This record gives sequence, C-alpha cells and structure tokens, in this order.
Amino acid sequence: MRAALAALAGLLLAGCGGTGGLAEAGSVSQGQQLFVENCGSCHVLAHAGTKGPVGPDLDAAFAEARRHGFEESTIREVVHKQILYPVEEPPTGEPGMPANLVEGADADSVAAYVACVAGRSEKEWNEAGCGPPAGQGGGTTAGGGGGGTADPKALFTSAGCAGCHVLAAAGATATVGPNLDDSDVSIQEAIAQIENGGGGMPAFRGKLQPNEIEALAKLIVESRGK
Ligand code: HEC
Ligand code: HEC
Repeated sequence: MRAALAALAGLLLAGCGGTGGLAEAGSVSQGQQLFVENCGSCHVLAHAGTKGPVGPDLDAAFAEARRHGFEESTIREVVHKQILYPVEEPPTGEPGMPANLVEGADADSVAAYVACVAGRSEKEWNEAGCGPPAGQGGGTTAGGGGGGTADPKALFTSAGCAGCHVLAAAGATATVGPNLDDSDVSIQEAIAQIENGGGGMPAFRGKLQPNEIEALAKLIVESRGK
C-alpha cells in the first residue's frame, strides 16, 4: 500500500497530465481474464476471485488510494506503469514482480480492469460497469452461474498455486515449489500442506474454504503426471 501511494504521489509530482503513451484502448472484460491468468497467482483482487499471497493485496492498496481521492484514470496509469516497471528484485530479498507480464493493448486492458474494480464494493462495480465478478457467470472461469464450487483447475491458478508449482492439468509451469506432477503426496498430506504451508509455502487455512482445499488436494492427486 505504501508503494502504491508513493507511485501515485510520483505521478502527481510528474504533472499527471497526458496519458503519455498509455492511450491504447483497453477492454475491462478482457482485462479480467488476463488478470486471472497473469497476475492472480500473486495478488488478492476480490472481483477477479484471486487470492495470490506473494504481492500486495490490490483491493487494500487501491481502497486506500481511492480514500485519498485518486481517480480511476490515475489508478489506471499507476497499474500500467507497475506492469512496465515493477521492482523485479527488491533489495530486501523478498519476492519481486516480473516486468511486462502482459504487453501492449493487453497491458492497458489489465490496467483498465484493475482501476475499475480494485478496492471497490459490489455496488460500485455495478455503477462503474466493471462487469460481473468471478463466480457469477462472468465468463472468466467455468462459472456456470450455479454458485457451486469453482473449477479446481481455475482455483489452482486464482488461489496462487500456479505461481509456484508445475501441475500440467492446470496448465501451471512455475518452479518455485516442487513439481506436483512428480509428487507422491496423499490427499491427506496435500490437505495438511495447503492448510499449514511451511518450507517456503504460505498457509491457506482461512484464505480458502475447507471444500476448496479438499478440491485442490484431489485435483493434485488425481491428475498428476497425466
Ligand atoms: C510473481 C508474483 C507477481 C505477479 C505474477 C504479479 N505481481 Fe504485482 N506485485 C508483486 C510484488 C512482489 C509486488 C511488490 C513489489 C513491487 O511493488 O514491485 C507487486 C506490486 C504490484 C502493484 C503495486 C501495489 C502496491 O501496493 O504498490 C500493482 C498495482 C501490481 N503489482 C499489479 C500487478 C498486475 C496488474 C499483474 C499482472 C500483469 C501483477 N501485478 C503480477 C508480485 C507479482
Ligand atoms: C510462494 C510459493 C508457493 C505457493 C503460492 C504455493 N506453494 Fe505449495 N509448496 C511450495 C514449496 C516451496 C513447497 C515445498 C515445501 C516443503 O518442502 O516443505 C510446497 C509444497 C506443496 C505440496 C507438497 C508437495 C510434496 O510433494 O510434498 C503441495 C501438495 C502443495 N505445495 C500444493 C499447493 C497448493 C494447492 C497451493 C495453492 C493453494 C500451493 N501449493 C501454493 C511453494 C508454494
């Protein structure tokens, strides 16, 4: 949050006038899908249904910015600049954010999307026309509108697992944690690891529902190596 405010302050000092090369048309609805695929493994964003634990909670960061009176257009620029120029390797040794995860019009779509939804209530999403949130048949995941458990493969990405693990069935290719296609954990062991974390993995108890944790454990055990 402090970083977001610092970035906002920087923009204001810089004059904040033109859109300086960020003018490509962005689509909020495309941005949602792109966010889930490219950003959600590291960031919490309620509208997208993502819970990635690595980077700052974007709802918290931009709720604070909005309270300070920053407009949607300014937040959009901040997000776009973050995509272009993140802190890739923080001196603290904490995880950073890779640059240019999305490019060109895609980057603008993601920026437009985050600026529309981050730190806002459901009522504000509707008023601003940000589109339906994840899990309400919003076309991002397999949400059929029935309100059932989310598709575990989509959850593997949106919960942040795909930011650290290989699991072919979920299209995940990250190598921070062990390759789950090669793992021989049982369902019980997987549930315990997801709930408690440890060994470099964050704990997900309280962040995911018990039925979601069980669905992820089953996904890993039933799909690995296939
Ligand atoms: C590998 C994990 C990772 C991914 C993927 C990732 N981020 Fe980040 N993000 C971070 C970290 C870590 C920080 C804090 C360091 C920094 O400010 O660069 C951060 C910071 C941010 C910030 C600033 C928030 C604040 O409070 O200052 C924004 C905005 C942001 N990311 C948006 C995005 C968007 C949009 C995407 C997708 C295009 C994305 N991130 C993908 C890890 C990630
Ligand atoms: C920040 C990186 C990170 C994230 C995010 C993450 N993990 Fe992990 N995971 C790890 C690391 C590192 C280990 C190894 C822990 C150890 O060896 O003690 C691990 C271990 C595991 C194991 C045990 C594998 C084995 O063979 O012992 C499972 C299962 C697992 N993770 C599932 C998940 C699921 C499901 C999610 C999402 C809800 C997730 N992980 C999110 C880094 C991560």
